[in-house]
Amino acid sequence: MKKEKLEALFQTLTLEEKIGQVVQVSGNVYMEDKQTIDTGPLQDIGFHSDFQLDLIGSVYNVNDWRQIKKIQTEYLHKHPKKIPLLIMADVIYGFRTINPIPLAQAGSFDFELIQKGATETAKESYRNGLHVLFSPMLDLVRDPRWGRVMESPGEDVYVASQYANSIVTGYQGELNEEKTIEEDHVAAGIKHFAAYGAPEAGREYNSVDMSLLKLRQTYLPPYEAALKANAKLVMTAFNLLNGIPATANKFLNRKILREENNFDGVLISDFAAIEELVDHGYAKDKQTAAQKALEAGVDIDMMTSCYANELQSLIESDQLPMELLDEAVRRILVLKNELGLFENPYRGLEAETAGEILTATAKQTAIELVEKSSVLLKNDQQLPLEKPEKLAVIGPYGTSKLTLGFWASVTGSPLDTISLAEGLQQHFPNQQLLLSKGYNLFDDYEAFGPLKEAVIQLNGPIDAENELVQEAVEKAKQADKILFTFGENFMESGEGASKAHLDLPEKQLHLLRELKKTGKPIVGILYTGRPLVLTEVATLFDSLLLVWYPGTMGGIGISNLLTGKANPSGRLAMTFPRAEGQIPIYYAHHSTGRPMGTSNQQPRFTSRYTDEANEPLYPFGYGLSYSSFQITTDSAAVHCRAGDTFSFKLAIQNTSQVDGEEVIQFYIQAAASEIVRPVQELVGSKRIFVRAKSVEEVEIEVDSNSLGYVNESGEHVLEKGSYRYLIATSSDNVHKSISIVIE
Ligand code: NOJ
Repeated sequence: MKKEKLEALFQTLTLEEKIGQVVQVSGNVYMEDKQTIDTGPLQDIGFHSDFQLDLIGSVYNVNDWRQIKKIQTEYLHKHPKKIPLLIMADVIYGFRTINPIPLAQAGSFDFELIQKGATETAKESYRNGLHVLFSPMLDLVRDPRWGRVMESPGEDVYVASQYANSIVTGYQGELNEEKTIEEDHVAAGIKHFAAYGAPEAGREYNSVDMSLLKLRQTYLPPYEAALKANAKLVMTAFNLLNGIPATANKFLNRKILREENNFDGVLISDFAAIEELVDHGYAKDKQTAAQKALEAGVDIDMMTSCYANELQSLIESDQLPMELLDEAVRRILVLKNELGLFENPYRGLEAETAGEILTATAKQTAIELVEKSSVLLKNDQQLPLEKPEKLAVIGPYGTSKLTLGFWASVTGSPLDTISLAEGLQQHFPNQQLLLSKGYNLFDDYEAFGPLKEAVIQLNGPIDAENELVQEAVEKAKQADKILFTFGENFMESGEGASKAHLDLPEKQLHLLRELKKTGKPIVGILYTGRPLVLTEVATLFDSLLLVWYPGTMGGIGISNLLTGKANPSGRLAMTFPRAEGQIPIYYAHHSTGRPMGTSNQQPRFTSRYTDEANEPLYPFGYGLSYSSFQITTDSAAVHCRAGDTFSFKLAIQNTSQVDGEEVIQFYIQAAASEIVRPVQELVGSKRIFVRAKSVEEVEIEVDSNSLGYVNESGEHVLEKGSYRYLIATSSDNVHKSISIVIE
C-alpha cells in the first residue's frame, strides 16, 4: 500500500481502533469460542468489559498455519477497517527444524552459515504464517548462572554483533528501497533492550546496574549491529537499568534507540513488563504504568491490560497527548504494510509451500551448524572413533529426543529429532550399540503440569537410580569404549532457570566415577545450555565433546563428529569457569593495578584468589580439532594514520593427516590510553579450511578504525599510539603478534 493510502486509512481510525493496535495478547484468545474467552484468558489479563477483542492489533504464539488462516479470516471479517492481524512468535533458533542453540551457533564463528540457518528459519516461519519472530536475543552474557545464556550469542562484543547481523539479514532478507520484507522472509524482533544479560548475581529478572561506559562499549553494540541491519522490531527488557525499568526508560528507548540509532520500527514491551512497572516501584498503579511506558516510546503492550484499559482516559483527560498514541499506531501500520499484509493478509499461506517444514536444505544446514558449533574440549586420542569398536552408549541422551533446548518447546517437536543412537547407527549399521540410560534425565515430571503425560510418553518412566548405575556398569564392561552422554535437561536452562550451582549433579558424577573404575576409555558428550563447572569432571574423560542443545539434527551432526566424518572446529563463545566463585569471568577484562604474576609484587597483594586460579578451565575462543595447524605471517611492524587500512599475509599449514578448519581470531591490545582498554579485544576472525598436509594463504585486511573504542557519549575514538594485533586460535593461544603504531 502506498504511504498516502496508509495515512488515509490511519486518519479514519477511532480512538478505540487505535488502542486496539497497541495491544498484544496470546493467540489462545482467538482459538477458543467467545464464551471461553470471556471467562478465560481475557479475564486473567483484566481487560475492562467494554474492551473489544476484535480490535487487538497483534497476537503471539499461534503456530499452526491452518489456525492462523482461520483466525485471520474471522478477524478480518469483524475488524471495521479490515486491518490485518499481525502474528508474532517465540521462534528463537528454528521454527520446526530446530538449529543448535544460539550460544552454540555463535561459537561456530561461521557467520555465513548462521545466516543460512536464519534464512531457513525465516522460510519455515513464513510458510507457516508467522510475520515477526521474537529473536535474535542479543543480550551479551558473562554470567553462566543466568539460564538465558543459552539463547544469547555469548560474552564477546564482536561475535555477538556479527551474529546479530547474520540473523537479522537471514530473517528479513535484503530490503528494497521501500524497506518491504519479501516472501519467504519475516521481521526480526531483537531483544531485550537493554542489558538484560547482566542481571545481578545471575538471578533471572534481577536488576542491572552498570556504568554508561560499559553499556556503550559492551552491551549496546550487538543491538546496534541489528539495528544497522534494519531490524524491524525491538522488545524491551524486564530489568531495571541504573534505577529505571528498561520498559519505561526514556534514555534507552527514546534517546539511544530512536534518536541515536534512528530506529523507526516498532518497540514492544516484554510479556507483562508494563504492568510490572508497578511491582518495580516505578509506577503507582496501572494507569501510571501505561502513561510512563507510552511516554518512553513503547508501541505495543504485550499481555497486560494497561494500554487497553487506561489509554482512553489518559488521553481524554489530557494526561497523555494523542500524538504519542498516534506515533505508536503509525509504526505498527507501517510494519504491517512493509510485510505486505494489506495486499495479502495470508502471506505465506496461499502458496503450495504453505505449512512446509523440515525441508532437506533446512535439515542439512542444521547438521552443518551442529558440526561447526560443537566444541571438542579434550582429546586424549579417543576420538575419532574407529570402526569396528564395541561401543557402550551410556546416559539418557543416547536415545532421548529431548535435545532441542528450552525455547524449541514452543514450535519444535522432539518427534522430528534424530537421537545420538540413531545417528551412530547410520555409521555403524551392522554393529550393536550397548545402550544404557544410566540415570534419569528428570528427577520427576511434576514441573511439566499439563504436559506431564506427554513428556512421560517421550522420556519413559523414572527408574531406580541404583539399578540404572548397575546396568550401565555391566554394559560398560562389555564394551571397548564408553560414550557417556550427560549434562543438563532442557528445563535446566532458558527463561527462569538461574542456578547457583554449576557443577554436575551428584548422581551423574557418581555414575561417571563408577564407569571410570571399569578402566575403559570414556568419551564424554556434554548437552547443556550454559557453561558448567567441569573442573573435576573433565579429568575423568579421555575425550570430551560439548554439543550444547544440538537441535533436530543433533544425532547426525554429533555422530559425524565422533566418527571423523566431520572434523570439530567449534569454539567457545563463553568462558567455562573453574569454580562458581570466579563468575563473572570473561577474557576481555581489564588489568588491575596489581595483576597476578608481576615480578615486583608479593603474591599475597596481587589480584587473585587464594583458593583458586584466576584462569578459567576453558577460555573464550577455545576448541580443539582432529587436525593440527601452524600459522606464520609475513607481517613486519605497521605504522599508519587513523582511518588507514593495512594488510598482511597469513599462511596456515595443516600438519596433520586430516582435512580440517581452523578458526583464526584477531585480538587487539592497546597500550596506555585515555580510557583504559580491556587486556585483549576480539576485532575479527576467519575460518580457514586446509587440506591435510597442505598450506593455505590468505590476505587479511585491517581497518585501523577497528582498533578504536566507544566513549561514554557514544563517539568512536581512535587514539594515536601503540597497539598489538594478535593472531590467535583461542583467547589464550596467541601465535603471532604484530606491532602497530597509529601516528
Ligand atoms: C518473555 C521473554 O522474556 C521473551 O523473550 C519472550 O519473547 C516473551 N516472554 C514472549 O513469550
